[in-house]
Amino acid sequence: MSVFARVEAAAEAIRRRHGTAPEVAVVLGSGLGDLADAFAEATSIPYAELPHWPVAGVVGHPGRLVIGRFAGRSVAALAGRVHLYEGHDPADVVFATRVMGRLGVGVLILTNAAGGVNTAFRAGTLMVIDDHINLLGANPLAGENDERFGPRFPDMTEVYSRRLRAVADLAAASRGVPVAHGVYAACLGPSYETPAEIRSLRTSGADAVGMSTVPEAIAARHMGIEVLGISCITNMAAGVLPQPLRHEEVLETARRVRGAFTALLEGIIERL
Ligand code: HPA
Repeated sequence: MSVFARVEAAAEAIRRRHGTAPEVAVVLGSGLGDLADAFAEATSIPYAELPHWPVAGVVGHPGRLVIGRFAGRSVAALAGRVHLYEGHDPADVVFATRVMGRLGVGVLILTNAAGGVNTAFRAGTLMVIDDHINLLGANPLAGENDERFGPRFPDMTEVYSRRLRAVADLAAASRGVPVAHGVYAACLGPSYETPAEIRSLRTSGADAVGMSTVPEAIAARHMGIEVLGISCITNMAAGVLPQPLRHEEVLETARRVRGAFTALLEGIIERL
């Protein structure tokens, strides 16, 4: 069965469960999964109930799709994503993105937890992603191209929509939630980076580092979906502070800022 056929089967299963097509999809990063609790008229579908859907395993990533009304829009929230470091194929990592595209989603908001490479950042900083550096060693578009998704050589000049970044700034100002801007570097993980790697990333122009988002952003642009990315800087990256990195700190910070994060997302979605 082709990837396209599997994507269509999952999309059809979702259409049967929830009649209203989502206009916007939000992928919720580590510790941010409860945004969907604020949705009205919601349908919640555990990933395990969707055909061909890859299931995530990491603590802090409960796996469910919730579609409902939020900030005046029909929104799909993806609580839980699969990562390359779990051993999934790049095609599986972008499966949900593909399904959202086939459901007709025009805007994809990718959120994540990330380490702060820019020393002006603090744990708790929210960063609008202006661009990315793909250091995953993989690209979800490698292999045979299916033109029904998009072209063989898609342009990546503006992965993160200028329009949506401006919307994020307006929402941030109106909600009183300060945001920074910067470049997100994606590393494979699952080990955190070394201090030398972080110095190298800083020299290369990265402001934040994480283990997700880039495959989904590439696949979304391949399909012509407009993308916005927001990183929650959950910790300063390795070697910035005289302390080791802990996954618990990532989750604690994400929990601490989730009120601000929800307000920001609400402000963004109501302006779309
Ligand atoms: N590095 C990579 N991924 C991350 C980090 C980090 O410091 N924090 C949260 N996700």
